[in-house]
Amino acid sequence: MVDLYGRDFITTQEWTIEELEYTMEVARKLRETVKRGDRPKPVLDRRNFFMVFYAPSTRTRGAFEAATAILGGHPAFIDVSTTRIKAGEAVKDVAAMYDSYADGIGVRILDKAIDFVYGEGHRVIREFADTAKVPVINMACCTYHPTQGLGDMITIQDLLGDVKGKKYTITWAYSNQPRGRCSIQEEVLIATRFGMDVTLAHPEGFDLDPQIIEAARKNAKESGGSFEIVHDFEEGLKDANVVFPRNWASSEFLRVGASKFGVEREVQTYQRYKHWCLDQHHVNDLMAKPAYVTHVLPVLRGYEATDAVMDGPNSAIYKQADDNFYAKMATLAVTMSKELPV
Ligand code: CP
Repeated sequence: MVDLYGRDFITTQEWTIEELEYTMEVARKLRETVKRGDRPKPVLDRRNFFMVFYAPSTRTRGAFEAATAILGGHPAFIDVSTTRIKAGEAVKDVAAMYDSYADGIGVRILDKAIDFVYGEGHRVIREFADTAKVPVINMACCTYHPTQGLGDMITIQDLLGDVKGKKYTITWAYSNQPRGRCSIQEEVLIATRFGMDVTLAHPEGFDLDPQIIEAARKNAKESGGSFEIVHDFEEGLKDANVVFPRNWASSEFLRVGASKFGVEREVQTYQRYKHWCLDQHHVNDLMAKPAYVTHVLPVLRGYEATDAVMDGPNSAIYKQADDNFYAKMATLAVTMSKELPV
């Protein structure tokens, strides 16, 4: 019997496979219920979900806000720039107070909000989780993005059926701006746990967190999947069933931070890898059949991937965004209520 009531969700790596599969099943049932025009049970009736945003969002805010409302709860959007947090208020004080006001707390802190310094966002999320007794949900930090990973696995399973032994290429892609690693790292973790053959492709100097790599290798060993790293774009794409093309910043940039390293200097290095831009011909000529293109969005069109491929027949990006909505709804339901919504 899976019981996730009151649990934090900082990364998929901290939930068992059984807990992840259970939440995915709830998400699929919620999707079915809402798509047939019904509403789930209001299991968050008169419960508050405080969404603390240090960093901007198009999807995550909208999805959590709508999901909380559909479950009968109240989503409180806290834009940190309108609070006293930036003036030096201690995280533990905020967490302790919001713990008394709310039934669940979501936190997003990454990229510009932490000057791209790797580890800073995760440290803040852990402080929220260590202080608050209510569940703390990571809505994306520098290191992890658990509800994104969960939703993406729903999409990949829907597309491929049994994902064991299927090749999933997570590839660095060209960009005009630096981006963090959280979606990449979460994807590597969950895909290796579900037994996929994961290929991580990136130019030299763009390594992920060594602890994530170590965990991915261990996951693959335990799940019967595999994990490899290559440094060639086309080699990475060969025979892939799914590809996720996305930029992430260099290891050095993320170590010292944007202010010290310089954004212009960082972006300059990307010029060498302009050919790491996914186009339809890569899908047609290199990937397995059928092949699917995913992206957590926002996608940098014309940089990470062309319009042709993002709008093309292999693209699953809008289904993925939809599945992510239900993954977030399910996460709220299983952590903030003892009752099932469907
Ligand atoms: N994928 C994702 O987290 O999107 P947002 O940054 O818009 O929330």
